[in-house]
Amino acid sequence: MDDGRDEDTNADRAATEERRTEALDVLRSNRAEGYTIPSATLYPFQWNWDSAFIALGLAGVEPAAAKEEVESLCAATWESGLLPHIVFHTDAEGYFPGPEEWGVDVEETATSGITQPPMVVPAVRRIYEETGDDGFLDRVYPALERHLEWWVRERSFDTSVVYVRHPWETGMDDSPAWTDPLAAFDPGEVVYEREDRKSDELADQRPTDWDYDRYVSLVREARAVDWDEFDLRESCPFLVEDALTNAIFVRACDDFAALAAARGDDTAATTWREQAEQSREAIRDRLWDEELGTFVSYDRVGDRKLEANSVAGLASVFGEIPTKQQFERLRRTLRDDLLAYEFAVPSYVGDAFDPDRYWRGPVWINTNWLVADGLRRYGSADLADRIDRDSRRLVEREGFFEYFNPETGEGRGSDRFSWSAALYLELTDSA
Ligand code: DGY
Repeated sequence: MDDGRDEDTNADRAATEERRTEALDVLRSNRAEGYTIPSATLYPFQWNWDSAFIALGLAGVEPAAAKEEVESLCAATWESGLLPHIVFHTDAEGYFPGPEEWGVDVEETATSGITQPPMVVPAVRRIYEETGDDGFLDRVYPALERHLEWWVRERSFDTSVVYVRHPWETGMDDSPAWTDPLAAFDPGEVVYEREDRKSDELADQRPTDWDYDRYVSLVREARAVDWDEFDLRESCPFLVEDALTNAIFVRACDDFAALAAARGDDTAATTWREQAEQSREAIRDRLWDEELGTFVSYDRVGDRKLEANSVAGLASVFGEIPTKQQFERLRRTLRDDLLAYEFAVPSYVGDAFDPDRYWRGPVWINTNWLVADGLRRYGSADLADRIDRDSRRLVEREGFFEYFNPETGEGRGSDRFSWSAALYLELTDSA
């Protein structure tokens, strides 16, 4: 008997294969020497957590490129252990703030002076498990360790919960969670030009001038004290214990412990496992918001919780932060508030929701990936599958956009965006 279902399956498989080929094409065309730019239109350098997601997606298909990606990022680690959020491998006109604005060099390569969530460690674990390449692990291990030690020493008030000192460090640049702490200081007169603010097409999908004035003034103030973290701990007007950064930090500690164990370093494995546990306990206590039913961020300057229902709180599952009881509540929040949209998972829900604007509502493929991975750790495969399905649906329908409207599914921001392509490869790895 003719089995129509088999034919469908074959057609689906062929379509997926075709998309995978396109994904690789995006990544190859965005690849420069030893690293991949996030997108040719808006981001012409190497970005820290972008590179980590790109390496994760490449691990199963082009492991040599995945290793190179991570190695070129790690080579930019500052002596202190800060892993910059941008590595300016080339001069490029038109991006602001460019190398002159930051004024920092590592071994003659210009970098920014802020960081991003340490996704590089989970990426290295993924690559190592795929390849078993001890030489690769030996080469990146010291930089990863220095970086994690830096978070504990220079970016924590209590050696448990870590903080950021710029919204760009969270990766979720214009999340409504940052409005109150940003409104609490006066950026003064700041003069600069941003391409995305000049573009008619993009202006209503990006952060506003109000946001950019503050982003730029935070960069200038930090540069004025030569990026001294202890000085900035006293003087910076934006010091936030971000839910997403903390979730990724905890997972990075766990993954680093696993890498240490693989190298036979039991002492380091124990140290980082204990760090993860200590951080988890403090985060559960400080960042949980029972009323919203999710994890939120904490403003150290204003000494208050930043009550926003965002995907950052949900991503706590990536670091196995919620207790069993918190997870039950968080799952209700996910079902009732965040899965109420046609496409999961909106980056934010609440009064400031805007389905087209950057981190104020759109769906992002990387946060979907973090949440789905974490949900599986809690045994919620059904919810994880729904999120993965939505990520695939969005990309298959629209292409490799930077972000997507959660109501209509329309692609937003830049097209041919590297991590959307890389994570599509990861999502369809065994398809
Ligand atoms: C940008 O330039 O928009 C970036 O998000 C900063 O990291």
